[in-house]
Amino acid sequence: MSHILDIFTKDALEAARANNTYRSMRLMETPESSRVKIRMPNGASQEQILLASNSYLDLANIDELKQAMAQAVLEWGTGSGGARLTTGNKTPHQELEEFIAKFKGEESAITFNTGYMANVGTISALCGKNDFIFSDELNHASIIDGIRLSRAKCFVYKHNDMADLERVISAAKSEQDAKQDARPFRGLIVTDAVFSMDGDLANLPELLRIAREQGVLLMVDEAHATGVLGKTGRGLAEHYGCAHADVTVGTLSKAVAAEGGFVAGKQQLIDFLRNKARSFIFTTAMAPAVAAAACNNLRYIDAHPERVQNLRDNVKFFCEALQREGVNVEQSPSAIVPIVIGDEARALEISAALQDAGILIPAIRYPTVAKGQARLRASLMATHTHEQLQAAATVIARAVKEGV
Ligand SMILES: Cc1ncc(COP(=O)(O)O)c(C=O)c1O
Repeated sequence: MSHILDIFTKDALEAARANNTYRSMRLMETPESSRVKIRMPNGASQEQILLASNSYLDLANIDELKQAMAQAVLEWGTGSGGARLTTGNKTPHQELEEFIAKFKGEESAITFNTGYMANVGTISALCGKNDFIFSDELNHASIIDGIRLSRAKCFVYKHNDMADLERVISAAKSEQDAKQDARPFRGLIVTDAVFSMDGDLANLPELLRIAREQGVLLMVDEAHATGVLGKTGRGLAEHYGCAHADVTVGTLSKAVAAEGGFVAGKQQLIDFLRNKARSFIFTTAMAPAVAAAACNNLRYIDAHPERVQNLRDNVKFFCEALQREGVNVEQSPSAIVPIVIGDEARALEISAALQDAGILIPAIRYPTVAKGQARLRASLMATHTHEQLQAAATVIARAVKEGV
């Protein structure tokens, strides 16, 4: 048995160890917040400034939201007991979907258990093997997996390069014409709204123009945009002041600080996904208390736009502080600030040195980013103080410039 397991696993594990991409987990001993305690390699607990969380608005720990979730557990129990289409659909699920639709300014919404499942289920429901998908080269793994599952022909366009997108759409149309295939051309453009390892934004106005001109569908994944972009955190369309994509996907696990994924759009799209998205149909519904928590937290964001503004102010302050200290970063339009190091081993060393100094920023390496593009991926929270951010910028600059 162990020999057979070796055949499947040994080389991959050894290769990962040899090229510094072996993964292990850090243990956090306190809840997600701007300050946390982690278990250090020597077994001791140490306090850290957390500059690595996707809980951008720092909602996971607010008393009134925790109490609301606890109350929902008391009311709805610990689990949903069935799939949404059998017995799992409870009042909190419906209230959540109604609120997401309202928050996003769409006709309707549907939730999934994770954002990953929302992407995989949506893409594979919409597209099949005779269809074409146009995907930004830096799209998230869940989009890539959805594309693979759909078996559609995928054209990857250069990151945020709208001319390249138009080129691949023309190439796909020519390919279908060459086959003398009389079926209507079915194409889907899919992109992250905020690119998760770079923090830059998709060009929604241009994407909308191209989608309309070319007669294809546009899907945007707002995982890192919901609660972050736009004056009130409604996302990419609010940021640009333009129309929405045809299909807006999002997650409830990052700024919303709960769990789950969603799709918002026209009623017809949501009806279609309820009938066709396998990752919606063939799984147990999220626990009702989780749905209630997601809904409460979204309502909180709706009522507290100043929290979104605090996050934006913090990002600006932190980028400027790093620049003043001589670190090569750009002003980020999102909550994500990449500090590109390049070499995998060096990124790991710097991250470990920062951790020793009480600053938690993990090194992101291949395959999450391209080889030789290893980086510290800093992400900000609405509750970081300027003192914390300045202190972190000073230590980061020293580690990056002077070696460790
Ligand atoms: C761009 C993007 N889409 C989707 C997901 C998946 O969301 P979830 O964590 O809710 O599965 C993530 C990260 O986890 C992401 O970064």
